[in-house]
Amino acid sequence: MTIYLRLLKYVKPYVKRMIVAIICIILAASANLYVPWILRDIIDEVLASKNMFMLNAIASGIVVVFFLRGVFFFGQTYLMSYIGQKVIIDIREAVYRHLQRLSLSYYEKRRTGQLMSYITNDVAAVQNALVESMIELVTEGMTLIGSLSVMFYLHWQLTLLTLITAPLVGQTMNVFGKKLRKSSALIQERAADITSVLQEGISSVRVIKSFAREDYEIERFKKQNHQNFRAQMKNSQIMATLTPIIEFTAAIGVTAIIWYGGREVINNNLTAGSLIAFLVYAVNLSNPIKRLSRVYGNIQKALAAAKRVFDVLDTQPEIEDMPGAKELAQIDGHVAFNNISFEYKPGEPALSGVQLAVQPGQVVAIVGPSGAGKTTIANLIPRFYDPTSGDITIDGIDIKTVTLKSLRQQIGIVPQETILFNGSVYSNILYGRLDAKQDEVVNAAKAANAHNFIMDMPDGYDTQIGERGSKLSGGQRQRISIARAILKNPRILILDEATSALDTESEKLVQEAVDKLMVGRTSFVIAHRLSTIKRANVILVMERGKLVEQGTHDELLALGGLYSKLYQVQFQSS
Ligand SMILES: Nc1ncnc2c1ncn2[C@@H]1O[C@H](COP(=O)(O)OP(=O)(O)OP(=O)(O)O)[C@@H](O)[C@H]1O
Ligand SMILES: [Mg+2]
Repeated sequence: MTIYLRLLKYVKPYVKRMIVAIICIILAASANLYVPWILRDIIDEVLASKNMFMLNAIASGIVVVFFLRGVFFFGQTYLMSYIGQKVIIDIREAVYRHLQRLSLSYYEKRRTGQLMSYITNDVAAVQNALVESMIELVTEGMTLIGSLSVMFYLHWQLTLLTLITAPLVGQTMNVFGKKLRKSSALIQERAADITSVLQEGISSVRVIKSFAREDYEIERFKKQNHQNFRAQMKNSQIMATLTPIIEFTAAIGVTAIIWYGGREVINNNLTAGSLIAFLVYAVNLSNPIKRLSRVYGNIQKALAAAKRVFDVLDTQPEIEDMPGAKELAQIDGHVAFNNISFEYKPGEPALSGVQLAVQPGQVVAIVGPSGAGKTTIANLIPRFYDPTSGDITIDGIDIKTVTLKSLRQQIGIVPQETILFNGSVYSNILYGRLDAKQDEVVNAAKAANAHNFIMDMPDGYDTQIGERGSKLSGGQRQRISIARAILKNPRILILDEATSALDTESEKLVQEAVDKLMVGRTSFVIAHRLSTIKRANVILVMERGKLVEQGTHDELLALGGLYSKLYQVQFQSS
């Protein structure tokens, strides 16, 4: 119920249209009630007394009523779809907006396909409930109440007899409703599983092919597909049992009417036309009951979907602006970590007691074995995560006290894995600063050693680079990513050097681009190349979440500790 009320909030802006739509539904449904009444009039007034005038009147009445019914039908269908679609747009946007606000940790716990399924499948299920179910609910509700009223008017004892079957039907619906709700939730979950496997299988097609794991993936998909089948069949089974049970109960009611009503006509307590009309009303009663039970199932399905959608909306971002957060003004680029500890999972420290201070414009190289916490250090500066204890300051200001937007605007990140968007080269560079002019984009590309290869491509800056930039080489992608950071012109730079080996030529071009990018910025480089490390003002040596050594290349070599060991193993050969 609370979920339904919450859904109705989204309908609120369209409440006027909703009222008109419901009036249309009611009027269109009333026209249906008129049909059995015609039968009564024809039998009792026209056929029995051979009345020509009544025949003409009834005939014109039918034409008018059905014309009006058409008009109202148009109104109900058009308006309800309008409202349904609008509500869906609003919910979909709200969910997407919220997803964009949620912290990285939220995404790490969930699969992409699952999240996509919330916005596509689940939101669509909600729309179905709003439009289809709303129309049926009102139409059939009207038919039910209207038919019953007329039936009472025609012969109340006969109506009561008919109604004895109703509680039976109600109880059946109750029992089956619970089962339906469960099985519907299962179906949506299975659908999300399929989307998720599909998403992975399609986006990771390169890896799959390179390991020749097609059969494995097909098997995985087959399994999900089959589980989906089983969930669907469970639902169908329930539905298939429900309908005959209800219909059988209705048939018993009809028999009772014919038997008792027939006696009443024979005893002259009821006209023949009334009995026929009554029968038609009574038989028609099974329609609304049948449809309402289906609507009931659909609404249960939609509520389960709506619950998942609302669960997303109710998730609080772990990292948010604190109340009263200020804008971070243009910074110089002092960065300090004061006794920082951090855990991804409680009890498993990824960083402990990290203490460091960096001057504006310094290049800081972070080195250490895999899993030492290098990326983690870099992740804390733009507040992708908050430290478990300790604080980080920029120009002496605690970064928790400023807005995320103003903080991240002044930090440029060139990740290890370059991530580009489907679109043109130009739009990908422009992503760094959306209001940049064309010559600024070109200058950034030049500084990143990207201009020449871009101009060599058929459409220059307008070349479409494919999904994730798949039409570019690794080195080209990196240089576009660097151009994007140069265009952003941040005071603090975080660079996760790519480990993937490039050929000597591209390596040189990328290195040059990186050098230009670092000039005049406080740069944190998770370094893999000896050239970068040697150029750094400070080298931070990480081991198991601790900052174990700190100094210049020569100082650290002289120290003869972890750095000199790493140097011998990793870099001596190159
Ligand atoms: N999102 C995460 N959730 C849980 N644990 C994580 C997460 N990211 C990293 N870790 C753990 O934190 C520790 C430090 O990881 P981090 O990514 O900082 O290492 P790294 O020094 O960058 O290693 P590499 O050189 O391999 O990139 C590792 O033990 C890792 O397993
Ligand atoms: Mg790393």
